[in-house]
Amino acid sequence: MNLDEAIEKTLKAGEILKKVIKEVEEKVVVGKKILDIAEFIENRITELGAKPAFPCNISINSDAAHFTPRRGDERVFKMGDLVKIDAGAHIDGHIADMAISIDLGENEKLIKACKDAVFNAIDSIKDGVNTAKISKIIEETIKKYGFKPVVNLSGHGLMPYLAHAPPNIYNYATQRGVELKEGMIIAIEPFATNGVGRVAERGECEIYSLVNPKPVRLKAMREIISEISEKFRTLPFAKRWINKSELLISKLVREGVFREYPVLSEVSKGFVSQWEHTVIVEKDSARVVTF
Ligand code: CO
Repeated sequence: MNLDEAIEKTLKAGEILKKVIKEVEEKVVVGKKILDIAEFIENRITELGAKPAFPCNISINSDAAHFTPRRGDERVFKMGDLVKIDAGAHIDGHIADMAISIDLGENEKLIKACKDAVFNAIDSIKDGVNTAKISKIIEETIKKYGFKPVVNLSGHGLMPYLAHAPPNIYNYATQRGVELKEGMIIAIEPFATNGVGRVAERGECEIYSLVNPKPVRLKAMREIISEISEKFRTLPFAKRWINKSELLISKLVREGVFREYPVLSEVSKGFVSQWEHTVIVEKDSARVVTF
């Protein structure tokens, strides 16, 4: 695959993704089922000619990342909710990743802090920029609004069939970063909070990926490994996307075949906002794939 083709497919995936997220924005209302929104996004991405790069994440309030509804989930959006929609689309593994926050309460300022951080960061991106500079801009922007960045969630590179590739782009100033080069595809993804600024697992888990397709003894396990590898390769998938027993899935996690993505929640129960765009680093600027 030549570079132009990779860029072209990423741009096409980005175009589809931003269209779908635009369409869904007005559908996120009090009383609507979270599952309906997740399925709408995933189905629309497919209808428009791409594939979901990972299960649509719809984390709410102090949940920051990795929440996706389970099959038959009846939970709905509530008055006051701060809703994060984080979705990905890919064409032949070339991924666009994007997130927005939707306010069903009074969290406008918390959302603006995060959105501004993304665009300030993007303004600084060009060939040769150090990620430490981007991180500093993100932290400063969020703090200017009186909030904190979540320090243990970061932006990241995107590579074919790898939704979280190096380098990490931290959302707080670091001593040292890496130099970005023309042609690199990265996601700028800050999270802002009115809490202490750290997330931890809170138990619930609906998202997995195949990390080590090693030989296993059980036939049922071999079958699920080959099915997952064929359908999703190394990309994350949701439990509701596959029709397999809990027991089998947890066995594969224990064997190190699957990796889990448990819901990450702000440790002090602070509300969390998120904004994300995928960009291609160019010589003198950044090209936003999802805007
Ligand atoms: Co991302």
